[in-house]
Amino acid sequence: MIFDRNGNKEVIALLGAGSMGTAIVRKIAAGRKVLLGDISEKTLEKVSKDFQYSGYDVETCVVNALEKESIEAFAQKAAGLGKVMYFVDTAGASPNQASPEHILRLDMVGTGYAVDAFGNVMAEGGAGLLISSQTGYMHRLPDETEQQILSAPTEKLMDIPYIKETAVSSGLAYMIAKRVNHLQAQRAAATTWKERRARINTISPGIIVTPLAYDEFSAAQENYQKMIDASAAMRTGTSEEIAEAGVFLLGEHAGFVTGTDLLIDGGVIAAIRTGRYKLNG
Ligand SMILES: NC(=O)c1ccc[n+]([C@@H]2O[C@H](COP(=O)([O-])OP(=O)(O)OC[C@H]3O[C@@H](n4cnc5c(N)ncnc54)[C@H](O)[C@@H]3O)[C@@H](O)[C@H]2O)c1
Repeated sequence: MIFDRNGNKEVIALLGAGSMGTAIVRKIAAGRKVLLGDISEKTLEKVSKDFQYSGYDVETCVVNALEKESIEAFAQKAAGLGKVMYFVDTAGASPNQASPEHILRLDMVGTGYAVDAFGNVMAEGGAGLLISSQTGYMHRLPDETEQQILSAPTEKLMDIPYIKETAVSSGLAYMIAKRVNHLQAQRAAATTWKERRARINTISPGIIVTPLAYDEFSAAQENYQKMIDASAAMRTGTSEEIAEAGVFLLGEHAGFVTGTDLLIDGGVIAAIRTGRYKLNG
């Protein structure tokens, strides 16, 4: 049976078919072609079935977001399906899941490769969204380092001296990588993506209950409890709440929004800045 007779559908590419990414994409998937990319074949099988049984037009692609060639092939596959109007990158590992090097290579360099690769295929009027983190606000980088990050080719990010010297724990690597995501969106918005007349932004979520977050809680339950209690919202967030903001940033009402970050953390960073919550305390 043919469910949809429309040709030339707009393409949505999702890198990292996890909780937040699928929540965002589901909200804009109707009438479009969805390309799901993930390193896990099991995840792709499960999520694509969910999408298919919800009436969406979906394809899958195994992608390793640690490898430039794999990400480039993913971007090319998206372009081969039609006009790439939306790109969402949520592939990531949290501090408790990986070594500092793995986090830098996945959350920082891998995201850079994705921004570069989709910067070659986005359609005019398209939009991209990278999922960073509230932790991107927890460790300030020196201005000089930020300038180096803004001008370094993606494959040289790991060689920046401050990053090499400072990212000695998975926690620090994660904070740095997530701040770099903000800068990656800024740079692309002003250069490669601008040239294609496409927009790109980041969302920095706070504690969102997903399998990734459960992994984190198991390592530092007491700290997370204190963080939640000190925040204005006094609760964790949901992927649905991130998806609402994602739809705005990807959509036509955000036509004047590019190169920026939206912090959605229930007030955790405000609590830190005002001394209501002390990191690691
Ligand atoms: N959950 C939170 O509290 C929280 C808070 C702030 C930021 N984040 C960030 O949000 C993003 C999405 O997190 P989530 O909670 O939806 O997690 P999730 O675990 O549900 O999704 C992440 C997905 O990335 C995939 N992935 C991992 N390594 C990959 C690789 N090498 N190549 C391709 N895919 C890979 C995983 O298979 C998974 O499907 C991550 O970048 C995470 O760091 C999460």
